[in-house]
Amino acid sequence: MELKGKTALITGANRGLGFAMSEKLASMGARVFMACRKKEDAEKAVSLLASRGLDAAAKQADVENPADIEALSADMSGSLKSLDILINNAGVNSEPMGTTIENIDLKLFEKIMNINLRGALYMCSKFIPLLKNSPDARIINFSSGLAQLSVPRMGPFPSYSISKTGVNQLTWFLAEELKETNVKVFSVDPGWVKTDMGGPNAMLEISEGIDTPIWLATAPAEDLKSGCFYKERKVLGW
Ligand SMILES: NC(=O)c1ccc[n+]([C@@H]2O[C@H](COP(=O)([O-])OP(=O)(O)OC[C@H]3O[C@@H](n4cnc5c(N)ncnc54)[C@H](OP(=O)(O)O)[C@@H]3O)[C@@H](O)[C@H]2O)c1
Repeated sequence: MELKGKTALITGANRGLGFAMSEKLASMGARVFMACRKKEDAEKAVSLLASRGLDAAAKQADVENPADIEALSADMSGSLKSLDILINNAGVNSEPMGTTIENIDLKLFEKIMNINLRGALYMCSKFIPLLKNSPDARIINFSSGLAQLSVPRMGPFPSYSISKTGVNQLTWFLAEELKETNVKVFSVDPGWVKTDMGGPNAMLEISEGIDTPIWLATAPAEDLKSGCFYKERKVLGW
């Protein structure tokens, strides 16, 4: 699909799935805004894409910091009329193995919630006006299989799992709020992917992990159901 003239904003764009999605959307013709926690990482990532002739711009935003999100939104609203694709990809799973609800580190719980859930929520909040100006906008919220409530519980990471279940509620809630607009909202489980987070034993290559989010960003609107949780291009149970 040709994305010429479209704009995309991706958080956590300097490495892993965020970098790969930036490269893919830019190679399809979009102007990609790469929002990264550290300005120098954003500049490095953008120069890699620029060296391949791709259209990308560096933005700084630590999604744990609401003031950074406000500044990013003010900056982009000053220069853009609309935004077509927002990908809330930034995420952490820094909880040690063996963490239980009983022994949980509350500071770490708050950090993971603030990055994975509050960060995604506030990015949505501050970019809804620009997204509403697009004739066909998409918000893609990165969730995880560990968020699912309809299957036996997987994994030992309580804060991460709870944060990603919250992301799914954000998708569900916001899709309803935006149902009369041109903005569609999705959650995505990329699968278990070989990134810094997924580790070397993960099942999927990065190119496979970005397949569904890129499809959600680019498929014809009539093929997609807003307010759903997707994996492998199919709707997944919550
Ligand atoms: N890999 C998997 O198997 C898997 C499975 C299910 C879901 N996911 C989800 O997919 C998304 C991407 O994961 P990944 O595998 O690509 O992870 P990754 O390789 O660890 O990359 C994470 C990215 O998020 C950024 N980030 C972390 N905290 C941030 C903050 N406060 N503000 C802005 N950016 C921040 C990191 O930036 P820095 O470089 O500055 O730290 C990095 O760019 C995450 O939401 C993750 O939960 C991944």
